[in-house]
Amino acid sequence: MRILFIGDIFGRPGRTIVKDRLPGLVQDHHIDLIIANGENAAAGFGITPSLIEELFEMGIDVITTGNHVWDKREMLDYLESEKANPHGQARRVLRPANYPPAMPGWGMFEGKKQGIAYAVLNLQGRIFMGSNDDPFRLADQLLKETKAKVVIVDFHAEATSEKMAMGWYLDGRVTAVIGTHTHVPTADERVLPGGTAYITDVGMSGPYQSVIGVKKELVVGKFLNNLPVRFEPATEDVRLCAVVVDCDETGGRARSVQRLMVG
Ligand SMILES: [Fe+2]
Ligand SMILES: [Fe+2]
Repeated sequence: MRILFIGDIFGRPGRTIVKDRLPGLVQDHHIDLIIANGENAAAGFGITPSLIEELFEMGIDVITTGNHVWDKREMLDYLESEKANPHGQARRVLRPANYPPAMPGWGMFEGKKQGIAYAVLNLQGRIFMGSNDDPFRLADQLLKETKAKVVIVDFHAEATSEKMAMGWYLDGRVTAVIGTHTHVPTADERVLPGGTAYITDVGMSGPYQSVIGVKKELVVGKFLNNLPVRFEPATEDVRLCAVVVDCDETGGRARSVQRLMVG
């Protein structure tokens, strides 16, 4: 099975490049399953039901998120109202699993693509981020719950150390641990000895003439004078960042991981 994981889609520039480049990537890399982090799809801050629709129409199978998941309040209603529908589209939109249990939404999705069972887990780190439940022990718990051999983890975290630790912790137990959130791609993709594909951060899909997606002048100004500022998405140097993981679907182990950056 070949899986494409697309990093944080940032605003309209990110959505547009994903829409334009996805069909070619799917064809060139013989992709079976597409996962994307969509937490910044709405002008950099959150995601909405209509943008979810837009991303699913592009062919994305599962959308993960992170700390920006509730930036648009309608997401609370959307995930809450879909609770009763276990087969609905909203079920394929994840928020980190280690958020408080009573919060709307789900942190794991189990599906089938081309007859192959897979699971996607969304977890968030705790270093330099809001406090949440332990993502390591929650990963153990979720892995007990799923029977899928192909398991992809989006670890949405800030600290490289925490992400690398998660990679080693889950090595040999999941297909891939893919880091998101920093919006800066790292050059450390590899298959760990136990057969888990790993990258510290896949990078965002959005405008790179920016500070992690936002117009650079606004962020530089914020650092200089620390006054309140309304962040707006940048528009220039738009790139799509992703990884392609090739795995043996019977055992779920990764054979290779390839980092992509297309402009
Ligand atoms: Fe993000
Ligand atoms: Fe984030």
